[in-house]
Amino acid sequence: MSEDVFREIDRPWRLWASAIVVGVLAFGCLSGFVILPVIQGYQAGIDPYTAICRSLGILPGSPAARQPVSTAPAAPVSQVSWGPSLIARLNKPDAARGQEIAASVCAACHGEKGLTADPAQFPNMAGQSAFAIYKQLHDYKSGARANEIMQPVVADLTDEQMADVAAHFAALQQARWEQTWVRAASPQVETIVRTGDSARGLPACESCHNPRSGGPIETPVLFAQTKEYLALQMQAFKSGSRKNDLYRRMRSISEKLTDSEIDQLAQYYFEQR
Ligand code: HEC
Ligand code: HEC
Repeated sequence: MSEDVFREIDRPWRLWASAIVVGVLAFGCLSGFVILPVIQGYQAGIDPYTAICRSLGILPGSPAARQPVSTAPAAPVSQVSWGPSLIARLNKPDAARGQEIAASVCAACHGEKGLTADPAQFPNMAGQSAFAIYKQLHDYKSGARANEIMQPVVADLTDEQMADVAAHFAALQQARWEQTWVRAASPQVETIVRTGDSARGLPACESCHNPRSGGPIETPVLFAQTKEYLALQMQAFKSGSRKNDLYRRMRSISEKLTDSEIDQLAQYYFEQR
């Protein structure tokens, strides 16, 4: 008698237990492979079919949070790299070819001797470093520095030709410019030039813009240019319309300068010749 009773009690228990296990499995599969993937996939921008396939492992990836998408157009930045062959070329250029390119292509605007008739518009080349000239030519060619006049001029020049003409103008340096040290009009500007302003995170201009200061190799000589041109370039860095400076060096500095400081710094460097 007791055996029969046990069997009768056992049967519904087994049925219930099986039903619960199947139910848990079904719920697990439904939520794990369908409901959660579809909800999360929807938030991540994935359609339900892809989301289910991904959760089953048929497609790679998992529904992840939607990443911010940049719609800003890609801005070309400088592609100059200072390799040994380029540096060797700048130090040992083909002088005759540099002279010829300068006379035939550049002289009309930058002057035969690298000194221009209208330096506020056309920057002086004599007195500039070969590395700085090469860097700017390369940037005009790659589009990193935009200018309607200079970009077509350099479009057909090879890297070697740019190095030759850069070295040609740089060699005219001693012929004309003598840097003379003058005092800045205001003590604040003098401080920015010599020691910077740590409160504003401004490094000293001189820590880079000084021959032998150990600044970046492409740092231009400033005292050869007019104050108009210098101020224009700092304003262009400040507004971001010129963005070919590596590591944003000059943009991050110019952004912190007031308009009056930019004018005074331009004046200061202009007076140093
Ligand atoms: C038609 C006139 C014209 C000709 C030709 C020309 N340039 Fe220029 N150049 C300009 C102007 C204008 C600028 C200023 C552009 C700017 O603000 O970005 C400039 C800027 C430059 C700069 C940037 C200087 C700096 O410190 O910011 C360099 C370097 C340069 N030119 C070199 C040359 C060389 C080398 C040639 C010959 C291969 C040449 N240019 C031919 C008009 C000219
Ligand atoms: C960390 C080094 C560094 C410091 C500090 C620095 N500069 Fe520069 N500056 C550069 C470099 C490098 C360039 C060339 C950018 C490029 O590649 O186009 C440049 C370019 C410029 C130009 C454009 C010149 C031209 O011929 O186109 C001006 C103007 C200038 N700097 C002014 C200043 C002034 C003023 C200060 C101080 C407030 C300053 N810089 C501090 C590194 C520096």
